[in-house]
Amino acid sequence: MQFWLVSVATVLPSLFIYYYCFNTSFTQQEQKLTVTEMSSISKYLKHQGPVLPSYFFSHGGPTFMYENDSFGNKGAWNKIKSIGHQIKTLPQQDKPDYIIVVSAHWQSSASNKIEISTTRTNNGNGENPLIYDFYGFPKHMYAEEFHSNSNAAVANAIMSKLADSGFKTELTDRGIDHGVWVPFKVAFSGYNTLSDRQPDFHEKRESDLPDIAVIQVSLTSNDTDFNTHFKLGQILDFFRHNDIWDEAHKKYLKGMVVCSGMSVHNLRDLGVSMQYRQQNPTAKALPYVKPFNDLMKSIVESDESKTSDTLTRLNDLKKDPLLRKAHPTLEHFLPLVVACGIANDAKQNIKEIYNDELGSLGWGIYQVGENIEPKM
Ligand SMILES: *[C@@H]1O[C@H](CO)[C@@H](O)[C@H](O)[C@H]1NC(C)=O
Ligand SMILES: *[C@@H]1O[C@H](CO)[C@@H](O)[C@H](O)[C@H]1NC(C)=O
Repeated sequence: MQFWLVSVATVLPSLFIYYYCFNTSFTQQEQKLTVTEMSSISKYLKHQGPVLPSYFFSHGGPTFMYENDSFGNKGAWNKIKSIGHQIKTLPQQDKPDYIIVVSAHWQSSASNKIEISTTRTNNGNGENPLIYDFYGFPKHMYAEEFHSNSNAAVANAIMSKLADSGFKTELTDRGIDHGVWVPFKVAFSGYNTLSDRQPDFHEKRESDLPDIAVIQVSLTSNDTDFNTHFKLGQILDFFRHNDIWDEAHKKYLKGMVVCSGMSVHNLRDLGVSMQYRQQNPTAKALPYVKPFNDLMKSIVESDESKTSDTLTRLNDLKKDPLLRKAHPTLEHFLPLVVACGIANDAKQNIKEIYNDELGSLGWGIYQVGENIEPKM
């Protein structure tokens, strides 16, 4: 308890700064690429073999990188680490060649628009730069690294699929934000600055994901629009069932989709939750956190996820005061709406595979589809 209070005193101010800054858009100049620069006709092949599951991760803040940090969540850390290990150790023919990620921390500039991340380097196949989109945290968190590449064929294919379905689209040279690289570092890397420092990348070129590209896809600018984000999930599901021809690497690529948010995310109540836990020593979280996690479990796990009734239930949630308690702003909730769209398109079930509550945060992790079973 004492340890917890000490870390509260040191980390709390950062979390407040984080809260007041996290919603402002990334200020560094983002390079817009025109369609013609990277455009190509995408070629698809129906996927043979097992379809990889899709996940919703609760990603916490940068503190989540550290297994034992009291502002992270050890259970979620272990779960995401084991999912990462499963993916990395799949036999080559089952392993994804790329992962599409939708994170809470990227909303596009318009209500019907989706941006897709790319890199200017190596014709769009270069390394994904990291965005350190958190403020006032200890220095060592800004020295953390995660090395992965983008993929131009995938970025183009996502863009053309979305455009075919009526979205405005744009390729953006942006990098990946902490909603992507923090949980991916947990999943796929053994290094961090506190326990095991990363070897010099420029010397060794040891990528954390040497054979799996990472392509981030934005949300729209409208965080109350569940219909459009559900539709985004339905479209992204295509990439789980169809391989994309990559002319640069002369092969078809298999895809996987990950959504990253929080099942409950109320940073405004952080201070209140500290007080509440002091007054109620047995309580782990504010009274609305577990009920909301339970409600989400019942909505996403219902068999209705195979029909559009899930979307109706998600929209009905807007009338339930519990939603705005759990998510005063909805950007951390939307990736779960996207995951519901993926499940709906695939006619697959969603399972809650982990949950926990702490303070004013919920740590739900959900899986769309069956466990990874390597092909014999
Ligand atoms: C976290 O704690 C566990 C057990 O308490 C310990 O085995 C592990 O080494 C710790 N991890 C780090 C990175 O300190
Ligand atoms: C955002 O979405 C909501 C729900 O669909 C809609 O009522 C509202 O008009 C949209 N706002 C904008 C600016 O498009």
